[in-house]
Amino acid sequence: MSKGHDWKKLATESQVVAAGRPEKKPDGALNPAIALNSTFHEGGPIGYGRYGNEAWSALEEAISVLEGGKTLIFSSGMAAISSVYSLLPQGAIIVAAENGYQGTTTMLKKMHEAKKLEVRFVNLPNTDEVLKALPGAQMLYLESPTNPAIEVVDLPVVIAAGKKAGSIVVVDSTLATPMVQNPLALGADIALHSVTKYLSGHSDILLGCVVTNDESIFERVEQARRYGGAIPGPFEAWIALRGLRTFALRMQRSQENAMELAKRLEKDPRVLKVRYPGLASDPYHERAKSFMKGFGAMISFEVKADIAQIDKMCNSSTLITNATSLGGVESIWERRRRWATESHTIPENLIRFSVGIENVDDLWSDIQSCFLAAKIN
Ligand SMILES: Cc1ncc(COP(=O)(O)O)c(C=O)c1O
Repeated sequence: MSKGHDWKKLATESQVVAAGRPEKKPDGALNPAIALNSTFHEGGPIGYGRYGNEAWSALEEAISVLEGGKTLIFSSGMAAISSVYSLLPQGAIIVAAENGYQGTTTMLKKMHEAKKLEVRFVNLPNTDEVLKALPGAQMLYLESPTNPAIEVVDLPVVIAAGKKAGSIVVVDSTLATPMVQNPLALGADIALHSVTKYLSGHSDILLGCVVTNDESIFERVEQARRYGGAIPGPFEAWIALRGLRTFALRMQRSQENAMELAKRLEKDPRVLKVRYPGLASDPYHERAKSFMKGFGAMISFEVKADIAQIDKMCNSSTLITNATSLGGVESIWERRRRWATESHTIPENLIRFSVGIENVDDLWSDIQSCFLAAKIN
């Protein structure tokens, strides 16, 4: 694929534009083909549509450059996560978040109940709790910042402890993105993402990825995809790569907007608490500054009102979309406890806010109108 680059010397803004390009040749295409084939003529390195194609390879190369590892893409973030759990034998001990992304927590609870895995649920941002749970664990499954509380895990410390304890250390870095942290550089064995979110960035496809520098893990995860069959279509991979070309720009703008809105929300008397690691008042600010390259674009805030009013507030927005998901160009918010599977450690009045790339004053006006519409004074 893309030749002639010393990737480590290029900034993210340049990497996302240059990576995953087909070989340069006269009249050659700038973008990979969307190879709509279930099979290929015999004798080549791919062979069959479940094993690979050009659009996957291009996206995988680009994410590999961003994360500094080797990438495998999957049909969704959850498919990528499932492939990682398939590395573990029956009954293995795994340390994981009690209040991380609800899809992951729900899957782990079900696996625990079925005795497929023995899950030690911990409060990940509490380093002592993680360290105490580690002895005997075959996997330490981290997520930082956590979704939806936007709490920062002390990744350098807990990753090192997990490695020392002999665990495979995994970091779901979806909310941070490679602009903010690189889990492999921090010592993790696996970084994973829901590519559905910031990396593709337009709320139009689902996709996931696993990135590692460990050859044996790579092979086993590739086999899990090949035989488990959780493969993306070539079209989704192509669309994700197209979105990734502007990832650095989108992320910069979203982070700036998030910082500004977090500051304004913090001063607003109708808001009880704002959670954003970029705020000097945030309990995780110093920790975030110690190893993160930015603060991300996810805010959570608690509103001084009853649930009906907060639901009305979320529903009244015109610019911000009231929906689940995050990481798109458009700002999206929702009251997280509207989901029955959300952790009960998350307050009922908490709104998770994925800040997009719109004009920040327009977003602020929309928020003001929503407070008014819901009669929150
Ligand atoms: C942190 C995190 N990890 C994983 C996932 C799952 O990704 P997907 O919806 O692409 O399966 C999500 C989805 O919201 C998420 O927020």
